[in-house]
Amino acid sequence: MGDSKGSLLNFPLLKSIGDLSVFKDNGEYGILGAVVVGILIPVLLSALFMGKKRVKVRGVPVEVGGEAGYTIRNARKTELVEVPWDGATTVAALFQQSCKRYSRNQFLGTRKLISKEFVTSKDGRKFEKLHFGDYEWQTYGEVFHRVCNFASGIVKLGHDVDSHAAIFSDTRAEWLITLQGCFRQNITVVTIYASLGEDALIHSLNETQVSTLICDSKQLKKLYAISSRLTSIQNIIYFEDDGEVKDTASGNLSKWTVASFSEVEKLGKESPIDPNLPSKHGIAVIMYTSGSTGLPKGVMITHGNIVATTAAVMTVIPNLGSKDVYLGYLPLAHVFELAAESVLSAAGCAIGYGSALTLTDTSNKVKKGTKGDASALQPTILTAVPAILDRVRDGVLKKVEEKGGLAKNLFDTCIQSPTSFCQRKLIRFVLCGGAPLSGESQQFINICMGAPIGQGYGLTETFAGAAFSEWDDNTVGRVGPPLPCCYIKLVSWEEGGYMTLDKPMPRGEIVVGGFSVTSGYYKNEEKTNELFKVDEKGMHWFYTGDIGQFHHDGCLEIIDRKKDIVKLQHGEYISLGKVEAALSSSNYLDNIMVYADPFHNYCVALIVPSHQVLEGWAQQAGIEYKNFAELCGKAETVSEVQQSLSKVAKAAKLDKFEVPAKIKLLPDAWTPESGLVTAALKIKREQLKVKFKDELQKLYECSI
Ligand SMILES: *[C@@H]1O[C@H](CO)[C@@H](O)[C@H](O)[C@H]1NC(C)=O
Ligand SMILES: *[C@@H]1O[C@H](CO)[C@@H](O)[C@H](O)[C@H]1NC(C)=O
Ligand SMILES: *[C@@H]1O[C@H](CO)[C@@H](O)[C@H](O)[C@H]1NC(C)=O
Repeated sequence: MGDSKGSLLNFPLLKSIGDLSVFKDNGEYGILGAVVVGILIPVLLSALFMGKKRVKVRGVPVEVGGEAGYTIRNARKTELVEVPWDGATTVAALFQQSCKRYSRNQFLGTRKLISKEFVTSKDGRKFEKLHFGDYEWQTYGEVFHRVCNFASGIVKLGHDVDSHAAIFSDTRAEWLITLQGCFRQNITVVTIYASLGEDALIHSLNETQVSTLICDSKQLKKLYAISSRLTSIQNIIYFEDDGEVKDTASGNLSKWTVASFSEVEKLGKESPIDPNLPSKHGIAVIMYTSGSTGLPKGVMITHGNIVATTAAVMTVIPNLGSKDVYLGYLPLAHVFELAAESVLSAAGCAIGYGSALTLTDTSNKVKKGTKGDASALQPTILTAVPAILDRVRDGVLKKVEEKGGLAKNLFDTCIQSPTSFCQRKLIRFVLCGGAPLSGESQQFINICMGAPIGQGYGLTETFAGAAFSEWDDNTVGRVGPPLPCCYIKLVSWEEGGYMTLDKPMPRGEIVVGGFSVTSGYYKNEEKTNELFKVDEKGMHWFYTGDIGQFHHDGCLEIIDRKKDIVKLQHGEYISLGKVEAALSSSNYLDNIMVYADPFHNYCVALIVPSHQVLEGWAQQAGIEYKNFAELCGKAETVSEVQQSLSKVAKAAKLDKFEVPAKIKLLPDAWTPESGLVTAALKIKREQLKVKFKDELQKLYECSI
């Protein structure tokens, strides 16, 4: 196999991989399925094997203020960048200038719903199937007019410009128009995940005293149901959906002024109001993050933060411009998507909207024989979150493993040999953020998609901007040098054993300072003072709680997380994230949370097993069971999964105390809707601990 040539690889092989059913189960994976089918081996890959001689320096040490540590800046810029171009100091100014610059370019694209039907599956469940038409576009010039109209309309409707407005909706063109419209009247916008639970929604709206709420029409019913607890709301503006019957009749109409989005636009068009543009230190967005603990916290993001990240990311995506087409489908209420769309609209790109469930021709909600969003749009730039990429990789690998024989041989060749024949290259860049992507997944996606992955590292608190891997960096497992809008400092964390004097690389807590660092948490001075510091030069620093190390070329690698480290009874430290990452390579696992009680000397784990793999094993082992929950409860099953864990733990060289002594198999998946994982599919430890309190207690009760 070692001497096989790249020419062995041909289209049918990749096609057969793409056809594997993993891509048909769920819309999330679908896009990548389509991409694997359509796109071949990257030019870049050759560089991976030839470019080892010279190491390009991407980040260099720098002297800064604040706490002592080891600090790196981007190698290309001596001074931090603050704005994309002169005069674009606020999001409102930047947007107005882009719209002028690119006025005739296509900007926002949306697909019209042609029909909606229900199909019934064999087991009697009903599924909604949608048929969407082609993308219909509006130019930058046209969108700008709509933004101005909305800005006037919301004031005419009666919104008090000194109070906050909130957006509670899935990603769509009107989301962006609303945001920009509010900015033109210096209105701060509160953003809330559409999948956030009721209590978190009420908390966010009440804490910020939102008076106008802008939402999808499908949210109206939910809002009416909790109207007595929404004491600050005065106006509701809802986005119309084709084919949706609006539900304004069932609620408490006397209490709120309710208007559709188009009514507000019309109102503004008929009676325009002068804009009242914000300043760079003004708060543009209060973004509620689905934090991994307790109630969500509102991060105060200034106009200056947004334009700084935008300016910095524009310098790292090569040749970004009006030829580029981007598929927007992740939640805009997530900082990563909002930052991406800010960058693309500043560069004059076209943004076509889609959704996770309609991404490809074979996605769940797409009517058979009609096009998914990706085939209708043919994007050149995509975003993805690591958890999805990891699952795609695992799914493909498992399938290939099962097929064995020739397919596996060819596939291994494909992964291991340098080739550079690239036939139909559409996607030219993949933006990846939300959590660190494993090296294996990065390499895999690089090869299957034929496009470089720009891995971003950033948090809501740094408006997504911290580090970003450069397009010509083919190494894996790192997140690149600091973006040119900020510095990254490592600060020693003695208790955890990570020091800036460590060899061969300095290690420590990652602290970000610069123009992308936000102003703190809304109405939460305690937490703000704990995690944000202003140094003697006035620079803002954010303490991320992530542990990193700097490679010699100035690239950052995330290696641990401060709060996920628990000191066991006998004094050993256990890093829950590290153990979870290692154990995840067991085929049986869909999800895992390792838990360590400091009063014991071992850890335990909650595991959501993979239906397919576990049922496959049960069939082979001749195990009888009525349903999946029963299978999960069987002693043989638990023992089988535990053996598999021991095996991968050994391979990963985990210590004995790092291997869960007891496990509990849970039949139901952890989803963002259930609040157990974030929208980027990171586990929420605190929520899981609360929900499975009894199970965890039982795991520690039974003596071992
Ligand atoms: C914009 O609003 C902020 C409060 O959010 C206020 O401090 C500032 O003065 C306003 N700017 C203008 C130009 O009205
Ligand atoms: C809303 O916030 C106020 C304080 O600003 C608090 O007293 C009240 O209990 C909150 N209401 C709800 C429903 O959370
Ligand atoms: C309508 O509002 C009143 C007072 O605000 C409240 O008592 C009542 O429960 C509400 N009805 C519904 C259907 O929400």
